[in-house]
Amino acid sequence: MGSPSRPDQLLIALEPEVAAVYCRRLKRHQLLPSSSSSSSSRPPPHLQEDPAPPPPSPDLDRDTVYAVVDCGGGTVDITVHQMTDRTSGHLKELHKATGGPHGSTGVDEEFERLLERIFGAEFFTTFRRERPAAYVDLMIAFEARKRNASPWRNSPLNIALPFAFIDLFRRLKGKDVEWAVRKHQDAGVRWSSQGMLRLEPGTMKQLFVPTLGHISQAIEAVLASPQVRHLQYMFLVGGFAESELLQKHIRDAFSRRARVIVPQGTSLAILRGAVQFGLDPGVVSVRRSRLTYGVGVLNRFDPSLHPEVKRVTSSGVAWCADVMDGFVVVDESVAVGDVVERSYTPATPQQRTVILHLYASTRHDVQFVTEPGVERVGTLHLDLGPPPPPPPPHSTTPPHKREISVHMKFGDTEVKATAVDHLTQRCVRADIDFLTL
Ligand SMILES: Nc1ncnc2c1ncn2[C@@H]1O[C@H](COP(=O)(O)OP(=O)(O)OP(=O)(O)O)[C@@H](O)[C@H]1O
Ligand SMILES: [Mg+2]
Repeated sequence: MGSPSRPDQLLIALEPEVAAVYCRRLKRHQLLPSSSSSSSSRPPPHLQEDPAPPPPSPDLDRDTVYAVVDCGGGTVDITVHQMTDRTSGHLKELHKATGGPHGSTGVDEEFERLLERIFGAEFFTTFRRERPAAYVDLMIAFEARKRNASPWRNSPLNIALPFAFIDLFRRLKGKDVEWAVRKHQDAGVRWSSQGMLRLEPGTMKQLFVPTLGHISQAIEAVLASPQVRHLQYMFLVGGFAESELLQKHIRDAFSRRARVIVPQGTSLAILRGAVQFGLDPGVVSVRRSRLTYGVGVLNRFDPSLHPEVKRVTSSGVAWCADVMDGFVVVDESVAVGDVVERSYTPATPQQRTVILHLYASTRHDVQFVTEPGVERVGTLHLDLGPPPPPPPPHSTTPPHKREISVHMKFGDTEVKATAVDHLTQRCVRADIDFLTL
């Protein structure tokens, strides 16, 4: 694993990026057949005599624009990339929408709401609190049924209610669960003779509706962005993308605008892409900075630029405090390997460390680090080592001004800093600490 002495052992992979890396390299046989053409009438797979052929392998030429929709347990992340170079497979990020809370657990929550409607919200809350192990068992049982749900399924899905559920209901309500199910009067939910809760396929589909609706809205919002005009492909990855209900919903909604592609074993697309990225980190050539980054510095006070409240005077010189010295601006395209260089002078030649605070903001026009929406995110420590020897007495040459050049890389998956002391030409230790603020 990585350690301060071997930092190169650890490489951070960005999920949507490595999912794209994986999808780009797919072969024809690794794609799930699209069923959009005959979607509503497709027979269940076991009755299909002549399975639909897999779609042709995605042909990602230079300038191809494609979206990766990562559907996880909690969130759905959408990223749009453009191929910049077919042979090297270099990618450029055009748009990013991360963390919409539309993951597969939204379906679990709908199931819980259904149980609350049948058995009472108060009872269900008590059950969850008093019988946590049985609650987990119930949700595990639901998970298996959720994974089997399909647009082409006609038979009901049975969910065993744990004994603790049935028992607690009887003790608190004085009635059987069967009574509650019957009283609920929903043809889609019944009590089976084997003592199971039986959901009709339509009821199961209903549980997916709100979450799937949120996902298509989130994709729609991304497609409305001007940078995403020429979208050609949409890759569905992540565990939730295994769901046939989700696949059909997305294909129905978007296959006229882009080719929707689901890789086989799509829940492992990110893991596999991360391995490919580790073997060749150069597959991504340009990234967009998510935030504006810079450090807080003192500048010579200029009354035409700087407000009076920021004026500080030291040894007779007027300075402006809290100036944001920006390195990259939000949404700026940064090529991997691009370096931002800045020079800093320690306040006194005897100084052994320089500490600069790193700030970030979603705004692009930050002037002072004290403005609203600007946050301190890290600290840059420059370890200057021992001070240079004092000049010999009676020396006529003025003492050198100590100057440290800091090089910061923003295009990698991490922000990295190196620094050189001009006086000695020696590398200075530069660490960015994002953790202890
Ligand atoms: N066939 C399926 N139908 C519906 N949901 C499924 C299916 N297979 C897996 N899931 C869901 O996928 C989720 C796991 O997917 P994944 O591993 O991509 O999530 P994650 O990366 O941990 O979540 P997140 O990205 O939100 O942090 C689980 O919530 C699981 O219920
Ligand atoms: Mg995930």
